[in-house]
Amino acid sequence: MALKTIDSLGDLSRQRVLVRADLNVPLDGQRITDDGRVRASLPTIERLAGAGAKVIVMAHLGRPKGQPEAKYSLQPVAARLAELLGRPVEFAGDTVGPLAQAAVAAAGDGDVVVLENVRFNPGETSKEDSERQAFAAELAALGDAFVSDGFGVVHRKQASVYDIAQILPAAAGGLVLAEVEALSRATTNPARPYVVVLGGSKVSDKLGVIGNLMEKADALLIGGGMVFTFLAAKGYAVGASLLEEDQIDTVKGYLDRASAEGVEIVLPTDIVVAEKFDRDAAHYDVAADQIPESWMGLDIGPDSRQAFAAKIRDARTIVWNGPMGVFEFPVFAAGTRDVAQAMIDSAGFSVVGGGDSAAAVRILGLPEAGFGHISTGGGASLELLEGKVLPGIAVLEA
Ligand code: 3PG
Repeated sequence: MALKTIDSLGDLSRQRVLVRADLNVPLDGQRITDDGRVRASLPTIERLAGAGAKVIVMAHLGRPKGQPEAKYSLQPVAARLAELLGRPVEFAGDTVGPLAQAAVAAAGDGDVVVLENVRFNPGETSKEDSERQAFAAELAALGDAFVSDGFGVVHRKQASVYDIAQILPAAAGGLVLAEVEALSRATTNPARPYVVVLGGSKVSDKLGVIGNLMEKADALLIGGGMVFTFLAAKGYAVGASLLEEDQIDTVKGYLDRASAEGVEIVLPTDIVVAEKFDRDAAHYDVAADQIPESWMGLDIGPDSRQAFAAKIRDARTIVWNGPMGVFEFPVFAAGTRDVAQAMIDSAGFSVVGGGDSAAAVRILGLPEAGFGHISTGGGASLELLEGKVLPGIAVLEA
């Protein structure tokens, strides 16, 4: 699948180029707690500005319901973008209204404008094609060309991602190209052994991925909160650990399918259990089938960490999505840290599949350069791993 590239847009000088970025960063009030996505958006913005385009950035923050809400304003994100670019960024206080129009009209060649949250407009996420198209037309009126660089939203059929690409000359930005290439490399003809590490809290979020990767991977290593549904499916008591009872039968089906198809599903043999969900909670290591009543598993145990790390180090392709434990609490971070470290130590091609795992790499202070690719997409990278066609990618095909 070849995607249209920025080169196809011709000479960019003096063009108004609308760039869809994914600037959906975690905020604590006005403070950005992980600016990874803002950093990831820089190369394309810099490239376009450097080529003399007027760069108009469209993005969302959170999930406002089609009208302005101060806590979802992109203003603090625009300020961070300006700091990282090392140059002024004009922030427009609306998305397609008079403020946006004035900011775009005043922009000189090479200037950068950030529009207010596209989701302050009901047309952005509308299920009605005509409503989305009408909003996309308003956005398109602000530009001459469209560059899609918000990989984290390419699984959304939304006005600023999908519909606008059918109105203006459109191209994939460097981030979208790099993400698609890395995730395809890991999923299409991967070098073997191919090991997939899955964690995170909910198994129901990962069923599609498990189902698809079971046909492709040599081993699936499972940790995080979702592992307790697997342990319950094996008949173990899981105490007060996270459990999705309605998924136990489905998980049993996966375990049976894996043994029938010769795919190895590796579950932890020991667990770090805690008395309560607290960073200072009393905790100790137990065998996975000995979780005491009313205690909760918050990380994989030391034997499991070693076993997982050994599999990862020997793999030639590794995809990781979802933390192994509550890494935000230092005493429950070892599983996540050891998995990540083993990926760094492995000579194989390693992909960190966005969302919480990418945040964990940064929060735990691990060297980002040690991985083959760290995705900026959460849901988008999962859907690509599921083998789905993503609307925001399909619309960019050459
Ligand atoms: C993400 O955070 O995964 C992306 O920014 C998409 O956000 P959404 O799930 O609200 O569409």
